[in-house]
Amino acid sequence: LRVLSVASEAAPLIKTGGLADVAGALPAALARQGVEVTTMLPGYPAVLAALGKTRALYKWPALLGTPARLLAGKIGDHDLLVLDAPALFDRAGGPYGDASGQDWDDNWRRFAAFSRAAADVARGAVKGRTFDLVHAHDWQAGLVPAYLRYSDDADAAPVPSIMTIHNMAFQGAFPPEIFPELGLAEAAWHVDGVEAYGQVGYLKAGMQLAYAITTVSPTYAGEIRSAEFGMGLEGIVQARSGCVHGILNGIDTADWNSANDPTLAATFSVSRLASRVRNKRALEREFGLAPGDGPLFIVVSRLTWQKGMDVLAGVLDHLVGIGGRLALLGSGDSEMEEAFLAAAARHPGRIGVRIGYDEALSHRLQAGGDAILIPSRFEPCGLTQLYGLAYGCVPVVSRTGGLADTVIDANPAALAAGVATGIQMNAVTDTMLAMAISRTANLYAQPAEWRRIQKNGMRADFSWGASGAAYAALYRQLTRTQG
Ligand code: ADP
Ligand code: GLC
Repeated sequence: LRVLSVASEAAPLIKTGGLADVAGALPAALARQGVEVTTMLPGYPAVLAALGKTRALYKWPALLGTPARLLAGKIGDHDLLVLDAPALFDRAGGPYGDASGQDWDDNWRRFAAFSRAAADVARGAVKGRTFDLVHAHDWQAGLVPAYLRYSDDADAAPVPSIMTIHNMAFQGAFPPEIFPELGLAEAAWHVDGVEAYGQVGYLKAGMQLAYAITTVSPTYAGEIRSAEFGMGLEGIVQARSGCVHGILNGIDTADWNSANDPTLAATFSVSRLASRVRNKRALEREFGLAPGDGPLFIVVSRLTWQKGMDVLAGVLDHLVGIGGRLALLGSGDSEMEEAFLAAAARHPGRIGVRIGYDEALSHRLQAGGDAILIPSRFEPCGLTQLYGLAYGCVPVVSRTGGLADTVIDANPAALAAGVATGIQMNAVTDTMLAMAISRTANLYAQPAEWRRIQKNGMRADFSWGASGAAYAALYRQLTRTQG
C-alpha cells in the first residue's frame, strides 16, 4: 500500500509543534505495518538545504500562478517529495509567518498551491509514482480532498483521502474573494464543499470531502462534537461521526530514549533510576536554581492561551510558596513571556525561564525535572506529557483530549491499585492548578510512592505500535471500499 502524507512540517526538517513530530514519525511507524509512506513538504529554505542536490520529477509552469517544481529527497530512510515554489516558500522566517510571528498575507495561496500539487501527485502526475491513498494533515493540506474531488480532470480515478485534525483551533478560513483564484470547479462553492460560514474553509473542506476524518486522541474525537471544542465545525463532526476516528499519537522511541540520549548529563532507565539525579543537578545549574527539598517543576511549551500558560503565570507565587521550583522553556505570546520573566525576577533561585525554542534543552528538562506542568484548556493529543512519562518526569495535566487518555491520575483508587502515572486537574482555573501543584508536592514528599508513579509511566508503552496499526487498518479499509 502506498500513501502520500501531506504536511506543512515534519521533524527533523522543519518544526513548530507536535504536527512535525507526528508527520516525521509516521513513515517508520507505518513501514512496520507494510505501508510505504511518502511525505510531501513545502520547499522552505531549511527543507531545500537538507535536500542538497536533487533533480526535478515534475514541473508546473503556473501552479496557482507561479512556477513550481517537485523535488525528490529522503527523510531518514523514507521518501520525501518537496514542492519547490520560490515565490511561495523561499522566505526567511517560520513556515507560516515572518520572524516576528506575523502570518504571511498569502498563506491562502501558499497552501492552496501546496494542496493542488499534492492532489496532482496523488493522481499520478509523476510517472512511476502511484499512490493508493492521500493522508492530509491540518488546514494547510485541507484542500487536497477538494482538488481531488473538484478537479478539471473528472475522468481521473478517485483517490481515497484522510483528513487528520491536529488542532481544530487552526481552521484556515479565508475571504470568499479568493475562491475564483483556487482553480476549483464552481460546484465546490457550496456548503457540501469548501464554503464555511461564507468563507473558504480549508480544514472544513478536508473534513467535508475526505473519505475519513481522524484526530489525534479518542477523547478529542468526542470533544469536537461540541461547540466548545469543535469551534464552529462541530456540525460536520456530528454529521460524519461514522467516519471520525480518534487515533492516539505515539512517540519516536529512538529519539526519546533516556538510556541512550546524547543530550543528557547522565543516561538512565527504569532499572537505573538513581542516575537520573545527575540530570536534575545539571538542570539546576543551567537554570540558576538553588537546591531545594520540594519538586522541581518544568514547562516545555508554546506560551499560549490553549496551553493555559496565563493561568500558570498566576499561580507561580503559590508554587514557590509550597517549596516548589520551576524551570521553563517556551515562547509565544509576548505578554506571557513577560509574565514568566517577571516571576523569575521576583523569585531568583526558585524560577528560571528560557524564552526560545531549543530541542536539546527540551530533552534535558524532561530528564532532570520532577514533574511537567501541562494545564491545557484543550489538547488534541499532546506529546510533552508522553515525553515526560518516558523520562520519569511526572505529568501534571488538565483532564482534556489526549491528556485525559494518556495520564492515570494518582487518585486513591489508582494509588491503591498501583497504576497511577501522573496528576490530573478537572478544570483550568487558578484554584484547580494550585491544588494540583500542592497534590504533586504531597506525593513527591512520599519517596516510595513517587518512585512508583515515575516507574509506572516509564514502563507504559507510548510507541507507535498500536497507533501505526490503527492507521494501517484504516488505510486498508478505505482503499478496499474503493475496490
Ligand atoms: P503543540 O503541537 O500543540 O505545540 P505538542 O505537545 O503536541 O503540542 O507538541 C509540542 C512539541 O514541540 C513537542 O515536541 C515539544 O517538546 C516541542 N516544544 C514546544 N515548545 C518547545 C520549545 N520552546 N523548545 C523546544 N521544544 C519545544
Ligand atoms: C497539535 C495539538 C497537539 C498534538 C499535535 C500533534 O499541535 O495542539 O495536542 O499533540 O498537534 O498531533
